[in-house]
Amino acid sequence: MGLIGPGFIAPHHLDAVRRLGDIDVIAIAGSSQASAEKKAREYKVERAYGDFHTLIADPEIQVIHNTTPNHLHLAVNLAALQAGKHVISDKPLAMNPAEGKQLRDAAVASGLAHVVTFNYRGNPLVQQAREMIARDEAGRLCFVHGCYLQDYLTSPDAYTWRVDPSKAGASNVLGDIGSHWCDLAEHVSGLKIVAVLADLTTVVPTRYAAGSTTEAFSKQAGGERTPVAMQSEDLASVLVRFENGAKGCFSVGQTLPGHKNDLQLELNGSTCSLGWKQEKQNELWIGRHDQPNAILMKDPGLVSGEALRYTRLPGGHQEAWADAFFNIVHDAYTWIREDARPEAKSVVLPTFEDGYRSTCVIDAILRSHAAGGVWQTVQYSPAA
Ligand SMILES: NC(=O)c1ccc[n+]([C@@H]2O[C@H](COP(=O)([O-])OP(=O)(O)OC[C@H]3O[C@@H](n4cnc5c(N)ncnc54)[C@H](O)[C@@H]3O)[C@@H](O)[C@H]2O)c1
Repeated sequence: MGLIGPGFIAPHHLDAVRRLGDIDVIAIAGSSQASAEKKAREYKVERAYGDFHTLIADPEIQVIHNTTPNHLHLAVNLAALQAGKHVISDKPLAMNPAEGKQLRDAAVASGLAHVVTFNYRGNPLVQQAREMIARDEAGRLCFVHGCYLQDYLTSPDAYTWRVDPSKAGASNVLGDIGSHWCDLAEHVSGLKIVAVLADLTTVVPTRYAAGSTTEAFSKQAGGERTPVAMQSEDLASVLVRFENGAKGCFSVGQTLPGHKNDLQLELNGSTCSLGWKQEKQNELWIGRHDQPNAILMKDPGLVSGEALRYTRLPGGHQEAWADAFFNIVHDAYTWIREDARPEAKSVVLPTFEDGYRSTCVIDAILRSHAAGGVWQTVQYSPAA
């Protein structure tokens, strides 16, 4: 494999691939030859390229991992597919639905593997919840709700490419982490979001940039800073309608002190409720009306199906973010080994179809807010 975009998330892709044990990490491509060489040394990768086209052209590389900022996803993913390489792209797949559809269409036509790392699907208890709902153990869902809250943008001195619409897309927090929540809600419920009503806010209207745009989550340099007026949201609340008539709501924000990676999803059915929190990911809350509530601990003796397949450790041995990420990368390479035949893909594995869909949901949310808080339908064209 070769990786393009060696920043914050890149080492987690490399770790997951290396954990597979039989995949060679051939090269890294960065924004310059010097930065690529520095990262290649750091991550003990043999080859470094200052231009992603050169990495894609490397005949020894069969799989491209794309961890560049959002504005490069279209160009990198398309070039990789056109070169006949399997692609594992980080989210959001694209800046908008037009780009997302272009990538979905190119990926489906290519016959290659196309994966988007909506990695929270890889948590064992997320799969336990999904399968309980699929087996009708929760009954008919009436309400799906939650949040994804972080605090890394609390300070006006926090400035990354994510707050620059030319690099992140028209949305900041919705594209960045709202995309994860919506994907997870659809995946676990088995229901599509069909309409949304949104209220978006920019809590920090001016941020102070220190020199060049820094990598995400990195400590900001001191010295002189330039004020930059924010154009995209850092807080959003959204009402949601699902295809079966179920209702939902969620909030996302990144200026909320104390919330580190606070992703929560709760689904209320006619038989029981299911609740999962990323920061307590080894527990699944089961709420009942006529029996005591319960906490299902992640334990291979207590879970089944995909949840069991994803459980790598005995009960009480905490599994975490990187393990769930590994589960998705594991399924991606299982698909690749099967020549990306559609029937060989795990039902859990998120593809460019899911990535494109996600851009359509975010677009409807942005349209709803722009229209003054009016219901908007999700405009999405399924693959032919
Ligand atoms: N799945 C997740 O949970 C998750 C978490 C974090 C980030 N992400 C996604 O991963 C992507 C990268 O995010 P990040 O936080 O790692 O950002 P980052 O800014 O830390 O890293 C991006 C890297 O890409 C490099 N780059 C820029 N232009 C390039 C070019 N032309 N060629 C090659 N490299 C180039 C940058 O120098 C930097 O090293 C984003 O799309 C983001 O949404 C996903």
